[in-house]
Amino acid sequence: MNFFKQIAGFLKPDDLSKKDNPNHVEGLFIDANKAAHSQTEASSTINQIHAADTETTLPAFENITGSLLNKTFTHSVNPALPSFQSSANGRIDANSNADNIRRRMALRDAFVPSQPVTSTSYFVGRTQQLKRLISAIEEERSHVVLYGKRGLGKTSLINIFAQIAQNSGYIVLLDAPGAHASFSSLFRSYLSQIPMRFSRSITLSSTTAESEGNFDSLLPSSDFGPRELSDVLSLLTNTRVIMFIDEYDRVTSDLFRNQLAELLKNLSDRGARVSMVILGVAHNLDQLLGYHPSIRRNVVGIPVTRMNNKEVSEILMLGARPSQLTYTDEAEKDIIFKTAGSPYYARLLALYSCRNAIEANETVVQLQHIKQACLQLSSEFSAEFHDLYAELMINDKDQVIKGVISAAAYTFASSDEHFTIEMLQNNYVHLFERPIKTDAMEKVVLSLSMGDGAFLKKLIRTSSIQYTFQNPDFAFYVILCDSV
Ligand SMILES: Nc1ncnc2c1ncn2[C@@H]1O[C@H](COP(=O)(O)OP(=O)(O)OP(=O)(O)O)[C@@H](O)[C@H]1O
Ligand SMILES: [Mg+2]
Repeated sequence: MNFFKQIAGFLKPDDLSKKDNPNHVEGLFIDANKAAHSQTEASSTINQIHAADTETTLPAFENITGSLLNKTFTHSVNPALPSFQSSANGRIDANSNADNIRRRMALRDAFVPSQPVTSTSYFVGRTQQLKRLISAIEEERSHVVLYGKRGLGKTSLINIFAQIAQNSGYIVLLDAPGAHASFSSLFRSYLSQIPMRFSRSITLSSTTAESEGNFDSLLPSSDFGPRELSDVLSLLTNTRVIMFIDEYDRVTSDLFRNQLAELLKNLSDRGARVSMVILGVAHNLDQLLGYHPSIRRNVVGIPVTRMNNKEVSEILMLGARPSQLTYTDEAEKDIIFKTAGSPYYARLLALYSCRNAIEANETVVQLQHIKQACLQLSSEFSAEFHDLYAELMINDKDQVIKGVISAAAYTFASSDEHFTIEMLQNNYVHLFERPIKTDAMEKVVLSLSMGDGAFLKKLIRTSSIQYTFQNPDFAFYVILCDSV
C-alpha cells in the first residue's frame, strides 16, 4: 500500500540507509519501538497471524519472542504473595496456567489501551484520513492540521502515516513539544536529524567535514526565529521532510504559536520541501492553530472523528483472535454500543471483557464478561466520580435523575459530544421505553448544569441550545455504572 510516488529525486526508499535516513522516525521509532517492543514482546504468534492478512511494505517489527514464550521462570519471592505471571522478558511463571497466560499476553499486546497504535497489524480503518493526508502533502504541498476529540486515534494515525511516508523516502520528524515549548530547541533537534547531504549548499568541492554534519549546523548558535529557520530549510534538496507536532493543544506559549504560524507561511511562500503536520485535541482547525487568515490557504484541516461500528468491530476481532476468543453477537453489539466509536474505550472494555472470559476458561466473550468488566472499570475510576455519582442519587427516589444522566451519557457519546434537549428526550425514550415530559427533562438538565461542580455544560449555539459533559470521562463512567 505505497501511496506516495517517488518524489525524493534520485532517492529510492531503499537508498536511504539507516545511517542516512535521519530517522526521526527514529525519533518516532525510539518511542514507537519501545511501545512496539512491548506490544510485540512475547507475541510472535500475533505477528505471524497478522502478517498473513496485512498487505504492507512497511518495516516489520523485530520478532524476538517465540522462544521466550516457551521458557518459564519461578519467582523467588514469598509464594504466598501475588506475583507477575510472566517475567519482564516474557518468560512464564512455572507455576502458572501457561495456556491462559499466553492468551492473556496476546490479548494485552493487541488491546493495550494506554498506547497509540504503532504497528500496522493493529491499525484499523482511517483510510479516508490517510488518503487525505497523502494528497494534502503530495499533491497540494500543504501543511496539515489534524484535530479531534481526546482518544480518537490522532497519534495512532500519524504513527502509521509516518511509516507510509518514510517508506516513500520522506524524512519524518515527530515530537510532542509540551506546554513550555521553545521554538529554537524543538527545531534545532529536528534539524539535527536531517543530514547535510540533502543541502543545496553541498557541492562536489565541499569537504568531507562539511558534507557529514546535519542541518542544525547551519542554524545560528543562539535562539532563532521562523525567518532564519525557513532560510535554512529552503536549502533542502533531493528529499522531502514532514515535521509532526503532536499535542499542540498543550502548547500555551503565545510566542511559540505565533512563530509557528509565521513558519508555516514562510515555508509555503518559499516553496521549501517541508510540510508541517500539527495535531491536537480541538473541535476545529482554528481552535487548534489560532485564527491566522494569512496561512489559511496553506493549511488543510483533517478531522479525526469517532469510528463507525464496522471499524470498532474490527478492533474487537483483532484483539480477540490471537487469544482464540470470539464474541456472542449480543456481546459484540454491547461493546460497540457502550463505547460509541471511541477506539480507546473499545480497547479498554474489550480488554477487560476478554480477560474475564479467559479467566473463566471460556473461548466466547459473553454479556456477563462485559458486565463484570464494567464493574471492574467503574471501580477503577477516581473516587471523586464515585462520590459525585452517589451524591446525585441521594434524593433520586423515582430514579428520574439517574435516567436523565444515563440518557445524557449515551447521547453525548453518540452525538459527537453535543446534544439538545430533544435529542436527549428521544434517547431517553429509546433507552427506557417510557416517555419523559419536556419540562421534567429540562428541570433535571438545568439542575445538572448549575453550580461549580456541574456535570453538564450549557452551550449557546446560533440555532439551538446544546449541552455537553464537563468531563467526558464522567459520561463513560455513567455508562459503565449503568451496566452494573
Ligand atoms: N486506527 C486505530 N486502530 C486501532 N486502535 C486504535 C486506532 N486509533 C486509536 N486506537 C486506539 O485508541 C487509543 C487512543 O489512540 P491515540 O492515543 O492514538 O488517540 P489520540 O487521539 O492521539 O489521543 P489523545 O487525544 O489523548 O492524544 C489507543 O489505545 C489506540 O491504540
Ligand atoms: Mg495523541
